[in-house]
Amino acid sequence: MQLPIEKTLDPADWSDHRKLGHKMIDDVVDYLSGLRDRPAWQPIPRETKKTFEAALPIQSEKADQVYQEFKENVFPYPVGNIHPRYFGWVQGNGTIMGAYADLLAATMNPNSWGGNQSAVYVEKQVIEWMKEVVGFPKCASGVMVSGASVANLIGLSCARTKYGSRDVNENGLDQKSFRLRIYCSRETHNSVHRAAALLGIGKSNVVSVPTTPDRRIDTAELQTLIRRDRFEGMVPMCIVGTAGTVGTGAIDDLDELARIAKTEDVWFHVDGAIGAAARASEKLAPLFAGIEKADSVAFDFHKWMFIPYEAGCVLVRDQEIHHKTFSNPASYLSLMVGGVTSHDETFFNDYGIELSRSMKALKVWMTLKEQGVRKIAEIMEQNVEQIQYLRRLLEKHEPIEIVGTGLLNILCFRYVAEGLSSEELNEFNKALLIAIQESGVAVPSPSIIDGKFALRVCITNHRTKCEDLDILVTEVLGQGKLLLTRRCEADKLRHCQPWSLKVQASK
Ligand SMILES: Cc1ncc(COP(=O)(O)O)c(C=O)c1O
Repeated sequence: MQLPIEKTLDPADWSDHRKLGHKMIDDVVDYLSGLRDRPAWQPIPRETKKTFEAALPIQSEKADQVYQEFKENVFPYPVGNIHPRYFGWVQGNGTIMGAYADLLAATMNPNSWGGNQSAVYVEKQVIEWMKEVVGFPKCASGVMVSGASVANLIGLSCARTKYGSRDVNENGLDQKSFRLRIYCSRETHNSVHRAAALLGIGKSNVVSVPTTPDRRIDTAELQTLIRRDRFEGMVPMCIVGTAGTVGTGAIDDLDELARIAKTEDVWFHVDGAIGAAARASEKLAPLFAGIEKADSVAFDFHKWMFIPYEAGCVLVRDQEIHHKTFSNPASYLSLMVGGVTSHDETFFNDYGIELSRSMKALKVWMTLKEQGVRKIAEIMEQNVEQIQYLRRLLEKHEPIEIVGTGLLNILCFRYVAEGLSSEELNEFNKALLIAIQESGVAVPSPSIIDGKFALRVCITNHRTKCEDLDILVTEVLGQGKLLLTRRCEADKLRHCQPWSLKVQASK
């Protein structure tokens, strides 16, 4: 019997794709090497957004044509975190080796759930390296995840296994579960609260402990709150310390938190999304003393280790608890003696939420090998020094007020225009931030500290130079002046700018 011509998604002629692939690599190199000549961010034009409303593509298009469309409508509009003057939120830049690694990983296209395959060994090696960086014992376990949000969820899940109701993973929540308490500072990232919600502990059982003036958790207050809760019948489960808060880069006293967790017999989790990796630097490591005593540590490679998104990780000191929390045997996942699923191999799905997992570890493995951890650590140190350089620059200018403490790699400030109320100042600084972002010169992000709207600069950027900070400050001063002039003109014309609507209304 004659079979019909069988279809495949592979090209009929590989040579065209080879040519296209070479062109893509050329464009990638041009794109990254020419970053400085492009805006740090630009808005997507309305017509371009419209192109994403096209109908489901039923018929095939030429690969060249698809790539051309990508180049016109997608490539020019990144959020900007690859740019040397992107200082928003906490976003790393990635490396070209990381980008190549993603291409290679997608080519191999492994499901890294476990078994006898290279992807698992690459990930195991990356986890071993990170145990060394964080100061964890070799017997600890770990798993790569999309980011610190999921890593925090995994850490807290393990805490619940140990301190929650008996067999909570088997029997579900009971009365004790609703009395579990998690303690962290007011500056803690909201992924911890979301994890509490998902675990059935509830956001209201995340106790926001006050901070000291340097925005670290007040450890005396923490101990009082734990004891008071216990007295009132609550069940203290976990202390979350932060190694670099998202707002100001404050680092909790991790050593003291480890001591309290031991005394009070609770789990000690560290959200090291930003800072855990900085333990790779001899200069910065002392700031994180005590992280090595945690029960679990969440961190990101895609932030201060400059690996392309997504790449996060969690380490858990007690491998048995970690495994017990997530392992979930099924007949279709049966292990055998030998073969792909040999029982003596590692199965990462027993240590996390996902079964299907991309080969995230390759971009970490290749970048760390190519660059070496020493150089990455030196760039982290450089970023910390650059923040101090920026502070000195800003302090020279009358209208600028530093807001908060400016620790580690984060600094917040605002433009204090004379004669404006605190509410007007907040509106003014919001408008200033938008103007700077829309100018394409630089991308700081917003922060509200003690009721003050501030421009926040986080340097998690291996491309930033001090000259970029000079350019930022010039832009801040220039845009600030321009906004003030416009405001005066608007006042005269009784035609106000959007940011000053409130100013007008309150007159
Ligand atoms: C301190 C802290 N924890 C957790 C997170 C969440 O990390 P991710 O976005 O990788 O999930 C962030 C993100 O910025 C963070 O700064």
